[in-house]
Amino acid sequence: MRIAVLKERAPGETRVAASPETVKKIVALGHEVVVEAGAGLASSVLDESYTAAGAAIAADAAQALTGADLLIKVRRPVPDEIARLRAGAGVVALMEPHGDKSGAESYAKAKVEALAMELVPRITRAQAMDALSSQSNLAGYRAVIEAAHLFGRGFPMMMTAAGTVAAAKVFIMGAGVAGLQAIATARRLGAVVTATDVRPAAKEQVASLGAKFIAVEDEEFKQAETAAGYAKAMSAEYQKKQAALVAEHIAKQDIVITTALIPGRPAPVLVSEAMVTAMKAGSVVIDLAVTQGGNCPLSKADEIVDVGGVRVAGFSNLPARLPADSSALYAKNILALLPLLTDKETKAFAPAWDDEIIKGAMLTRAGAVVHPIFAASPAA
Ligand code: NAI
Repeated sequence: MRIAVLKERAPGETRVAASPETVKKIVALGHEVVVEAGAGLASSVLDESYTAAGAAIAADAAQALTGADLLIKVRRPVPDEIARLRAGAGVVALMEPHGDKSGAESYAKAKVEALAMELVPRITRAQAMDALSSQSNLAGYRAVIEAAHLFGRGFPMMMTAAGTVAAAKVFIMGAGVAGLQAIATARRLGAVVTATDVRPAAKEQVASLGAKFIAVEDEEFKQAETAAGYAKAMSAEYQKKQAALVAEHIAKQDIVITTALIPGRPAPVLVSEAMVTAMKAGSVVIDLAVTQGGNCPLSKADEIVDVGGVRVAGFSNLPARLPADSSALYAKNILALLPLLTDKETKAFAPAWDDEIIKGAMLTRAGAVVHPIFAASPAA
């Protein structure tokens, strides 16, 4: 099949869906790859590197999409891109399906088979395809680097002839993939790290990284994990108890990094305005959940809000701040998925419709929204 790789059009998006390494492997599998000129530039990949890997370079998106059987992207396709795909062609991207319910309808209308990378089930066989994890891991790392940049002090304790620099106190809220990497990164920089989560399984993981776990560990907490390993929305009563514990803790922290998400729902509010006001001047709050409504009501996407000397930063796309790595890993996620989208014999685009991974991630099929979540609640 012919696979198109486009330059991303979302503002601030620096990633690209294929790397020279994955292009080489895709070509070796017997496919054709066409890359839009300049698609990799923001990720430090030159057109020549794609050509050397076996891709053809197209002058623009329209040319790249001509005759394409599959479009691979980082961000969901724009209407113009969908319009240029033939009926029956595929598109794979981070579709933000919960935030953009009308998207699936529009792909179905264009008879394009759309797969959302976020919906790839987190089963062992799909680990190499797990883009949420590959990107969250890097986001967690980068959140700490951004915090260190905004913080007017050091992270490690330093004993010098001129006096002692105290270790920074870092509190990570939400110890999933991003949170755990943030803990590890802050620890490597020498901070004193604490973390919280509502999933009991997180306690041991936090401890294994050398951080202290802070949480209200009542009966509700013991039941707070779904079979899929995600957090449940907690009761108002639990949230109140958690907020009281957290309020006292946050007032003593230098850096708070929030990563708490509940799939398909607004992010829980964990850091109130009062908590921010109680922090010392010079402290930093980084809200990774800002695009899902934010864990802190004061955070604004891609802005740094100053609240009495406390800086609250909401980064909407941290993986895009280290695009060389995030593109390389995302490209590998797509490469790992490719066999499930290909007919082994003919090499044609042919999703394995009965496969659990495809069933879990495919939004549309032959003109209809087929994903159980989105077919049941089409756009109003
Ligand atoms: P996520 O991005 O959906 O949420 C981030 C974290 O926020 C989660 O740990 C969640 O429990 C926490 N959270 C939600 N509400 C909270 C609240 N009120 N207070 C504090 N924390 C709150 O989660 P992510 O990073 O995608 O990981 C979720 C789980 O899936 C983890 O257990 C992770 O280890 C697991 N996982 C399993 C994989 C596999 O088996 N292949 C791959 C990746 C993750």
